[in-house]
Amino acid sequence: MAEPAGRSVWGSKLGFVLAASGSAIGLGNIVFFGANAYRFGGGAFYVPYFAALFVLGIPMMIVEMGIGQTQRRAFPSAMNRTTGQKGEFLAWWSLLNAIVIAMYYITLLAWVGTMMVRAITGALYDDGVGATFGSVLGSSVPVIFVFVIWGLNAVFLSRGTKTIEATVKVFVPLMWVFMILLVIRGLTLDNGLQGVWYLFTPNFKGIQDASVWQGAFSQMFFSLSLGLGTMTAYASYLPRKADVVTNGGMVSFMNCSFEFIAGLAIFSMLFSFSLQPSSSTLGMSFVVVPTGIGEFPAAATFFAALFFFLLLIAGLTSSISIIESPVAALRDKFGWARSKALALVMVIGVAGSLVFALPIMLQQDGKDAAPLGISLLDLMDHWAFGYSLLIVGLVEAILIGHVYGIDKLRAELNENARFTLGPWFGVLVKWIIPVVISVVLLFNVLAELDISIEALGLAGRGFYEGDGPFDGLDFLPGLIFGVWLGGTVLGAFLLTRIGSYDHEGGDA
Ligand code: TRP
Repeated sequence: MAEPAGRSVWGSKLGFVLAASGSAIGLGNIVFFGANAYRFGGGAFYVPYFAALFVLGIPMMIVEMGIGQTQRRAFPSAMNRTTGQKGEFLAWWSLLNAIVIAMYYITLLAWVGTMMVRAITGALYDDGVGATFGSVLGSSVPVIFVFVIWGLNAVFLSRGTKTIEATVKVFVPLMWVFMILLVIRGLTLDNGLQGVWYLFTPNFKGIQDASVWQGAFSQMFFSLSLGLGTMTAYASYLPRKADVVTNGGMVSFMNCSFEFIAGLAIFSMLFSFSLQPSSSTLGMSFVVVPTGIGEFPAAATFFAALFFFLLLIAGLTSSISIIESPVAALRDKFGWARSKALALVMVIGVAGSLVFALPIMLQQDGKDAAPLGISLLDLMDHWAFGYSLLIVGLVEAILIGHVYGIDKLRAELNENARFTLGPWFGVLVKWIIPVVISVVLLFNVLAELDISIEALGLAGRGFYEGDGPFDGLDFLPGLIFGVWLGGTVLGAFLLTRIGSYDHEGGDA
């Protein structure tokens, strides 16, 4: 097969590992992990979590990187070459979901940016963090930040691997340093170590609870950036000799180590200050943790600004990867210039982020400063995140496992691998992973049948709890579901049918 002429390549192995770990380490590791680990009972979360890492996470990481590296193409093209049009359709469907996820991921970052400014100007603690976050949600400042953050993403992606690499070489080491600072500060607080016991004392009762397993498996997929073609796009810029088995394992371990220590930082504060964790996922990072930081004996404002800055850079190195995935795919299929593909994704993405950030969507009823009313985002997240990643993972494992043939991929990867994959890898991808994901999805659907606005808000990650601005809008969850499913399926169908892959060059 012809080498794609001039397709851009990572400058070094380090560049790729930093980019892939920058993608994996993001809001998922700090915002969602802390909240999930708390909700699912600390020590009870770890057994399912490690099972998810070894059974599902690392193998799927190797599959997603593997098809990118061996085919040297972004997700749809790589799937087309390995598994035909069914695979391409699946990949486009996942990329449309990636665009939706990018929209609200960036809205979340816009809120992070606004909170960071409040911390720097010293206004964060004036009326309590909860009230500050409430006023941020209701103000139009995040709208400005939506433009700023999409703009930064465009700059970081403007020259492909070159600019991505430059970005991650600064941000990824920096976020480790900041996180380690926070952990040291947290653990040295009075009673800070109690959080560690809570987090690490295994609780075998929790293991019998299906929702804990479901939470751990969903968390793992999101955290490792699987199911949206991200790792495939990044690995498509690797040279032919690259060892994705070792790299994939390494990136997965680095991601989970970061998540681990982020948990330590958060739980040490919760225990030291006897904080009442918020019932909502976002509340944990936007309100509870900054409130804890406010009680630091010294330099509270500095640490608060640091915390939001950390969230911001961790999120940015992830958002660029979510956006690069469709950009790379459009270039591979239609032979477009990078600027054209990026411009198209941005116009759609900015519009979506604005809808999620619009103050009117966040109207509060004034009673409670907790993040009420972010329900549109919540609903999109429920469908796009709660289902699409796992569905893509399921179908991908079946197609690559049975249609392309996992042993073919395994042989290709083993050629360059320092630690070769044994036959167990095939058993995992062909049988165990599809069964495990099917069971998790089945549980999700069963929970869904208990359909009500509350159930929709609460099942899965649930940003939102309580009676919100949905009174009289009972049709909204169903409507969003219909628009999401119809739109993404139709879009994926069209993208698969139009054009063909005769733009072998692709990249510059
Ligand atoms: N993994 C990132 C996080 O933890 C988010 C992310 C980036 C992602 N790319 C992805 C999630 C692809 C799912 C799929 O925040």
